Amino acid sequence: MKNGYLGIYDSGIGGLTVVKAVQEAFPNEKIVFLADSKHMPYGSKTPEEIVSYSLENVSILSRYPLKAVLIACNTSDSIAREVLQERCSLPIIGVISPAAKKAVSLSQNRRIAVMATQATCASGAYVKAVSGYDEEAEVISVPCPALVPLIEEGRFLHPDEELDTVLSSYLDQVKESGADTLILGCTHYDVLIPHVKRILPGIHTVSSSRCFLDDLKELVSSETDDTEEKEIFLCTSDAEDFRKTAELMLPGIRFQRV
Ligand code: DGL
Repeated sequence: MKNGYLGIYDSGIGGLTVVKAVQEAFPNEKIVFLADSKHMPYGSKTPEEIVSYSLENVSILSRYPLKAVLIACNTSDSIAREVLQERCSLPIIGVISPAAKKAVSLSQNRRIAVMATQATCASGAYVKAVSGYDEEAEVISVPCPALVPLIEEGRFLHPDEELDTVLSSYLDQVKESGADTLILGCTHYDVLIPHVKRILPGIHTVSSSRCFLDDLKELVSSETDDTEEKEIFLCTSDAEDFRKTAELMLPGIRFQRV
């Protein structure tokens, strides 16, 4: 179904960094995006909870005619992907494998640091994905539990002392590891790229919000379709509350609560 919707989900505004990347690369794409804001952050949840939220997200998105599901959430991709693939007949695209591939292509010393949520780090998904591309590469996982709540408060647009202190403490671990490449293994962290480059210049930075586009190429349509709404934005908590931070990223955005 080439002219169906691309269903995209995340726990929150991290998914909008993915939506923006899709919109820039494939402007004709029809998108239905769901932020499971009621259960955000996913990073501190159990694997069972993350699987259950992910199944529910796909079920909500499936109310629309979908052609594929893009998991715009490393935490969900790391834990729920296999279950989704088993239970869902649609193509499922994730963000982890493409980011790992890109990092391996950039790293010269084969030491790759991954900043991600606690749940993603604990799952070992990046270790597995990187070793699929380079068995000898070493992955240094840096769980960053304090970042998602700060980003959801919109504290990334301007210099912010608390964000800087927290981010610097995680980047110190990256620096100490000797890695020459850093994966931002949470889609929320894409908004931190300017801060990362300022605090730790000279490291290759790979954002999981931007590496999956090649995997979409075969699915996207080149024609415009004016018969249905082009973009639909859903969330699972108060729509007006959620819109306030979301609008910092996509001005004029409106959400429906589901
Ligand atoms: N943006 C998500 C990720 O890529 C989820 C962050 C969270 O809810 O903890 O992991």
